[in-house]
Amino acid sequence: EIIINLQERGADIASSMYGVFFEEINHAGDGGLYAELVQNRSFEEKEMPAGFRAEGNKLLPKQVKYHLTGEVRARSYRWNTDEVPAWTLQGKDSLAAQMKVTKENPKFPSAPNNLKVTITDASQPIWLQNEGYWGMNIVEREKYFLRTIIRTSTDYKGKVTAKLVSADGKILSSEILEVIPDGRWNDIKKTLTSAGNDAKAKLVLEFDAPGIIWVDYVSLFPENTFNNRPNGLRRDVAEMLVGLKPAFFRWPGGCVVEGITLDNRFEWKKTLGDPASRPGEYSTWGYRCSYGFGYYEMLQFCEDIGAKAMYVCNVGLGCQFRMGDACPENEIAFYIDDCMDAIEYALGDETTEWGARRAADGHPAPFPLQYVEIGNENWGPEYDRRFDIFYKSIKEKYPQLVLIYNEMPQREGPAAITKTDMIDPHWYVDPYFFFRNTTLFDTYERGKYQVYVGEYACNRSVGAGNMLAALSEAAFINGMERNGDLVTMASYAPLFENRHDRSWATNLIWIDTDQVVGRSSYYVQKMAAENRPTYNVKSNINMHAVDPDLFDKGYIGFGANSASVEFKNIKITQNGVPTKPDMDNFTLRKEKQHLLEEIYEGDYTLECKVRKTGGEQGFQIFLGMSADGKTGYRYNIGMW
Ligand code: AHR
Repeated sequence: EIIINLQERGADIASSMYGVFFEEINHAGDGGLYAELVQNRSFEEKEMPAGFRAEGNKLLPKQVKYHLTGEVRARSYRWNTDEVPAWTLQGKDSLAAQMKVTKENPKFPSAPNNLKVTITDASQPIWLQNEGYWGMNIVEREKYFLRTIIRTSTDYKGKVTAKLVSADGKILSSEILEVIPDGRWNDIKKTLTSAGNDAKAKLVLEFDAPGIIWVDYVSLFPENTFNNRPNGLRRDVAEMLVGLKPAFFRWPGGCVVEGITLDNRFEWKKTLGDPASRPGEYSTWGYRCSYGFGYYEMLQFCEDIGAKAMYVCNVGLGCQFRMGDACPENEIAFYIDDCMDAIEYALGDETTEWGARRAADGHPAPFPLQYVEIGNENWGPEYDRRFDIFYKSIKEKYPQLVLIYNEMPQREGPAAITKTDMIDPHWYVDPYFFFRNTTLFDTYERGKYQVYVGEYACNRSVGAGNMLAALSEAAFINGMERNGDLVTMASYAPLFENRHDRSWATNLIWIDTDQVVGRSSYYVQKMAAENRPTYNVKSNINMHAVDPDLFDKGYIGFGANSASVEFKNIKITQNGVPTKPDMDNFTLRKEKQHLLEEIYEGDYTLECKVRKTGGEQGFQIFLGMSADGKTGYRYNIGMW
């Protein structure tokens, strides 16, 4: 029974409610949203982050002594063992050509690495090949903008040719690059038009004479980027975000804000300027990003899609600050200044240092920065103390900005801070947590601050995500909307995964070279944003209580003892309604179980045809079975 009282108006739902959280994780930017097709374009990927050493495929901290405790960190991180990740050189095995990353005569001191290719035998043309981010999607008749920074020894008398090559070796495009062989850097731009399609194509630089070639930078962008921006974003991926109607865009994270240690935190200033000069950074997520989708590009994207920007700053605390990775007291001012500069870059006029820099970068008018989150998941007394200092400094100069405090969801007692505009608690939980906690905010204290649920997702007990996860998020969203006077912003996390690099189990949008797929959770977000109500109306719903045992762990399934059994025409209905329209036929092998369906309260029927295909004894059908085997019914069926 549902009773709705239209006269009793509840809380408004803020127009800021639905936004997105971006972090460079799972190749979300490089190999994801950012349209660059060349991986390791600056040859910086194997640059060792400060304070680490490699041991096989593991990256370990050297003797990192943390400032406060002097403790040494033990955890290891992923390290790519390829000599030059994403690049291969033909002729290397026959010793006709060799490659090596050097810092010889760097074009940009900020990104000093270049690849030195030494060719001794060019009787066969030598191919230096980039595989992209698990392939490059090259489309017939589309244009691709190549830029390479390259120099050769003066005795190199051959040509340098750029080619787009399909995975099966077809030349899709070929252009000679005008390289002057005087030993100096050439900065060459060329447009390649493809004569065919391949989602797994490669880019090749071909050399046809002996000599030495140094390659500092190789970049390839489709002409067709979102809003046709240079150094832009993949149109199809960006359009998925537009589909979410985000009111705000949070950047750059996430843990990358803090860095594994303070030395390798994400640094916004290094993301500005010529993409060829950006050093990138290795992060806790196991790879070095290019800094290609930088602060400017993020602010530009916000402006393009009508979203407010949210910048997350570092407060002089590394990810492991509880082990002592905190900058000393006299360095806190450096981190405040860095944050103030970021704000000035977005909002300052051209008479300010960083406003002038923004104008020089191509955008004289301010960008729509509205939120600053102070630190990321830094919880604890040291963070609280620093938060107060940051809050005061930023608020004094920019009272119009909304400042956000990182809230520990299970915190006991109030935070030891003087004031905040918003708090940001995070929830990564199982579906039952969300179903049970739709009323969580009903009892939150009012009047002190508003709530931004900056990271939430159902990612426990649901694999890479499923419909149950999505439904539970929808339930939680309903609870947030009902408390719209308090909860005025929310963002699911993480946003993206390249399907070849899932370093976080459950992500909203999956990306391959030529495809973008929103999981069921994406469509929950989209539905919520597209149907954001103006205000709540009072309603009462009377329904049956749910049996918690069944609700938690119930499933329907089959189990075989020592028989092999074939099942066909499987139909499951819940209260008379089919639950899965096209269930696959399948064969169950001996001593295996197959769970067909997680179940809720209700009457279920299971119909199927069964044929024993081998073995001796029978099989079982579970209906309403809990994981501990105690609840519900189990039918043992013998078939001889
Ligand atoms: O979203 C993935 C990670 O979860 C974020 O980097 C971090 O803030 C949180 O712990």
